[in-house]
Amino acid sequence: MAHLELTQEEPDCADDGVWLQCIECGETLAPFDEVHYTCDACDGLLEVRYADLPTWDDFSGRGVWRYSAALPFAEGVSLPEGDTQLHDVPRLEEEVGVSRLRVKHEGMNPTGSFKDRGMTVGVRTAKELGVGKLACASTGNTSAALAAYGGRGGMETLVLLPQGKVAAGKVAQASLHGARILEVDGNFDTCLDIVQDLAHRGVVYLLNSLNPFRLEGQKTIGLEIMEQFRDEEGEYPDRIILPVGNAGNTAALYKCFRELEASGAITGDDIPALTGVQAAGSAPMVEAIQEGREETRRWESVETKATAIRIGNPVNAPKALPGIRQTGGTAVAVEDDEIMDAQRSLAEEGVGVEPASAASIAGLRKLRRQGVIDDSEQVVCLTTGHLLKDPDAAVEAGRDPEAVPGTTEGVLDYLGE
Ligand code: F0G
Repeated sequence: MAHLELTQEEPDCADDGVWLQCIECGETLAPFDEVHYTCDACDGLLEVRYADLPTWDDFSGRGVWRYSAALPFAEGVSLPEGDTQLHDVPRLEEEVGVSRLRVKHEGMNPTGSFKDRGMTVGVRTAKELGVGKLACASTGNTSAALAAYGGRGGMETLVLLPQGKVAAGKVAQASLHGARILEVDGNFDTCLDIVQDLAHRGVVYLLNSLNPFRLEGQKTIGLEIMEQFRDEEGEYPDRIILPVGNAGNTAALYKCFRELEASGAITGDDIPALTGVQAAGSAPMVEAIQEGREETRRWESVETKATAIRIGNPVNAPKALPGIRQTGGTAVAVEDDEIMDAQRSLAEEGVGVEPASAASIAGLRKLRRQGVIDDSEQVVCLTTGHLLKDPDAAVEAGRDPEAVPGTTEGVLDYLGE
């Protein structure tokens, strides 16, 4: 297992032991004096860095804020979030043929996706910075979380969605939680280009995963998985498989493991192999891993029924690609029908997830078939969003309702009883 680097010299600009650091040139920035999304010097991605990294004994309480010792604040704008189930799925485990398979169901967060973990920290940061108008581009879940947490925080929210490509449940959430919704004639990547321009012009505060504070909240998925798995199984998982869109979660998990290793909470050997799954119709990360490139190529045209991960230009790739490589993981693309099959299999074991989430299970099946994952592995698959987020996809993947007469006799007759 490669040692994961983490520079830890505290610069003068740090605020209470917290600062921003560029992952490309190492430039350090004060975290809360003014708004930064990328490096002033080279436009590289920024990470939140800490003078003190906590270990297991420093965590107490529940949910995301259990891990406040690993976050920039002691508390946030909370609904509350985190503390999601790590499900057993014995039938899938048996079918796939691994030593242990657990499903971390992030669809059980307050707005039904892992984005809530990022937003509780992101909206808290917005308050620290004194900004009032929050915005994001979204394939749906981020917009739902932003609307809910922004609303909770008493702030205005604006969301840019790719027209006609966002699942009904997500639009409904963003709308009812009070966001102003702009439906953009373009895909998610176009929406993100525009909202980044708006943010740079100072019109809005950007809460996409380009915002390094959001990823701090999402880091807690990794902390929870490690603690839950260790408490239940007596050791850490060998591998974490997750759906990838903008690669924010992949970057957040990688950072989580680097910090745990640097604090001495785990050793390099304990770090799970980060394994990303994309839909075949939008797989720039898989392409970059397969071709050994440091950056992704922007896919102008993307298509998949897993609309949450219908993304052609993963902005967090420079953080996430090293994470996949240095943890000994990989990335794999799956077809939409494999995603739908996986969604059905999970649902049959009582775990209801949206299509993008099921990509993790579809990826596991494929990597087992290819022999990349062997039968001795202990695997955690991340399911990122709830089934009800995308009711149309669920109806399409599930059984058709059957029309019957409105009498008991008629129903018995129809059932052949
Ligand atoms: N799964 C779901 C359900 C998502 O909504 C997303 C991203 C991902 C996986 C991918 O996560 O971007 O961290 O690699 N959704 C964003 C949104 C883009 O706007 O809701 P990632």
